[in-house]
This record gives sequence, C-alpha cells and structure tokens, in this order.
Amino acid sequence: MSFAELWESLLPIGRDPGTGGYRRFSWTDADRRCRDWFVRAATCRGLPVEHDHDGNLWAWWDTVPQGGVSRTGAVAAGSHLDSVPDGGAFDGPLGIVSAFAAIDSLRARGFVPARPVAVVAFTEEEGARFGVACLGSRLLTGAVAAGTARGLRDCAGVTLAEAMAAAGARPDRLGPDDDLPRRVAAYVELHIEQGRQLAALDAVIGVGEGIWPHGRWRFDFSGRADHAGTTALADRRDPMLPFAVTVLAARQAAGHHGALATFGKLSVVPGGVNAIGSAAHAWLDARAPDDGILERMTGEITAAADRAGAEHGVTVTVTRESFSPAVEFDPALRARAEAALARRAIKAARVRTGAGHDAGVLAARIPTAMLFVRNPSGVSHAPGEHADPADCATGVAALAAVLGELAGT
Ligand code: HGY
Ligand code: MN
Ligand code: MN
Repeated sequence: MSFAELWESLLPIGRDPGTGGYRRFSWTDADRRCRDWFVRAATCRGLPVEHDHDGNLWAWWDTVPQGGVSRTGAVAAGSHLDSVPDGGAFDGPLGIVSAFAAIDSLRARGFVPARPVAVVAFTEEEGARFGVACLGSRLLTGAVAAGTARGLRDCAGVTLAEAMAAAGARPDRLGPDDDLPRRVAAYVELHIEQGRQLAALDAVIGVGEGIWPHGRWRFDFSGRADHAGTTALADRRDPMLPFAVTVLAARQAAGHHGALATFGKLSVVPGGVNAIGSAAHAWLDARAPDDGILERMTGEITAAADRAGAEHGVTVTVTRESFSPAVEFDPALRARAEAALARRAIKAARVRTGAGHDAGVLAARIPTAMLFVRNPSGVSHAPGEHADPADCATGVAALAAVLGELAGT
C-alpha cells in the first residue's frame, strides 16, 4: 500500500463533513476507528501490534518472535492520531503514515534492521479531551502519575478511567515504563511544520533543535449571576469583565516579551444571552523562548486578572493544568540524522518550535529527534493545514534515511 493509499484510508476518520476539520478525541469512537486503522496498517505489513499500559500503540518490525519477548535498543518513529477540535489532517497522522511508508521503503531496498524498529502512536497528545497535552508519553515516562491521569475529566465530567474502561482498556494498568531506556534507544518524530520557517528558508525538511517551554493555565472568574436587563452596572459582579481585561493583558504581555499567549477556550456559566454569568472559565496557552520569560509573562497575566477581578468584585483562581519545560533535542542524535540526510542529498534546516510534541516529553528519558515537513501556509490546528504531496514524499525519504542510519547498526 503506497503512502497515498495509506493516507487516503485514514482521511475520512473523525472528519467533520461541514468544516473538513477533525474531531479525533481519545477513547471516543473516532479514536477507536483510528486505532483499528493503525492495527490494519501494521498487520498488512506483518508488524505485530502492542497496546502498552498507557494506551499507546506500537507496531514492531523486528526478528523478535511474538509472545512478549522483551526488545532491546529499538528505534521508534511515530507521532499521534488524536486532534484538536476541528484540527487539520496532518498534525500527528503525517508522522505515523510516514513511519509506515518509511519501513515500506527500507524493505523495498532490501534493508534488514540490526535492531528492532517500531511505529508508535501516542494517545491524547493534544490533550483536547482530558486537558493534559502528551498524556500518553507523559504516563510512559512518569511525567504524570497514573492516579492523577485516571481522575482527569472531560467537559462532560467523564474521567479518563471511565472513558478507557468503556473502550475496553485497563485504566488500572496505567503507569510508567521504567524499562523504556533499555527497550528504546531512540525516538524520531516526523511532523508537519506548524509555522512558516521552512518556507522562508526555502527548505522542505527541518531538523528540530528544541521546543519552547509552554503550558496551559485555567482561569476561573467567579462573579454573581443576575438579570442582564435590570441589574445596574454598578451592582454587577460580571465575570466576563475581568476575563476580557485578562485576554488583552495576555496579548500585551506576549508582545512585550517576544512570546505567545492565547486564550482559545472559554466556558461561560450558565451561558444565557439575557443573564449575567455566575462564572467564566478560560484557558491560557502560553509559550516563550525560555522558562524565565514564560514565568514572568504568566505572572503578569495573572496579576492583571487579579487586579481586574478585585475591581469588579469577581474572584479569580488560576491553576496550571499542563506544563512542558524547554527541550533541547539530543545533539548526537540530531547530528546522525543530519548526516544521514546529507548522504541522501536531502537539504535540511535546523528549526526551533513553539509546538509541543511527544518527542519533547520522551526527551527526558531517551534520545529523541524531530523532522519537520514544510507547511507552505504555516496554518495548523485548523482545517486549512496542508503539506504538498511532493514535500510529504521527501519527508518519507528523510525518515527512511534516518531510520536506516539508526537501525542499521
Ligand atoms: O499544542 C501543541 O503545541 C501541539 O500541537 N500539541
Ligand atoms: Mn497539535
Ligand atoms: Mn502534533
């Protein structure tokens, strides 16, 4: 099955017919169909599939007989299949389809790996349902405790444990894989670029240098519900006013610090058109070139929220829900990847990104590298996300070159 056929077979799953965007949230029916797709893609290549304790999928290309014989020193490549609400087709899936296609390409040229090779799909990378980004890789590396994860709730109040059990998975088995560094020697993630650096550098392929520190903060503004048509302005405790001040303060702080701050999700309770809300719940996504800037910027935004809350008689509570420290990808692994690309005359530019990835989480436990494929518009986390087929083919060639380099010895 060619890259195009494999790509096309995944496209319809979880796509909103109205917007063309995706709604692939972990442990939902769309997720189940993505998992089934992954198993079919692996099985038709003769790759046994392992469902690890944390909900991640591993397809193994190795000589190790099935039956759970432990694998050592594997090279893994992959990404995720889940999406943000109304996300694009490439963020995540490009890395997984390219990994299967890279194995096809290596096999076609008669390559036999000297070490196990795996294609891996991490669960809940976007954190779109349960709020914590890269949940599958954080559980695997111990960055999030199993008990904490089991209690995470989606917007309907369903816990991760309930959602997993309903899908036939075992939430009681969640937990870190202490054996990960022995089992996996390196992880390489290919991803569509989220931004336009490569277009500006006239490069098709990027090699990751690092990831900005970033996180998610929940802001709860608690005021007093009342009638929109009869309550005097002076008598109001409207949670939307400090919220509005905070959104503008975030934008100003980001501009001042050369960073990024976004309020992209808001829930107003009870949400009546003719009622002053009792509360507003909002989520800040903040990212910065270094930890110090991120801390100062989020501190300024929180202070602005507190001031505005006091002015309007609204209580403000801020909770950090997810945080990813700065990541520097393994220099030695990056050098090997760049050398493999150079040998194949694949031009590559080094890029640093503000987007989080499972490769960033795994970097705390094993050497990881990232390859990026040019995104002409730079648009991501939206239906318009796109990479040209020719560039995707170059991405497969690049990933095959790197996997051949890493698994050949
Ligand atoms: O949000 C991110 O940075 C990534 O796309 N999950
Ligand atoms: Mn994403
Ligand atoms: Mn992604």
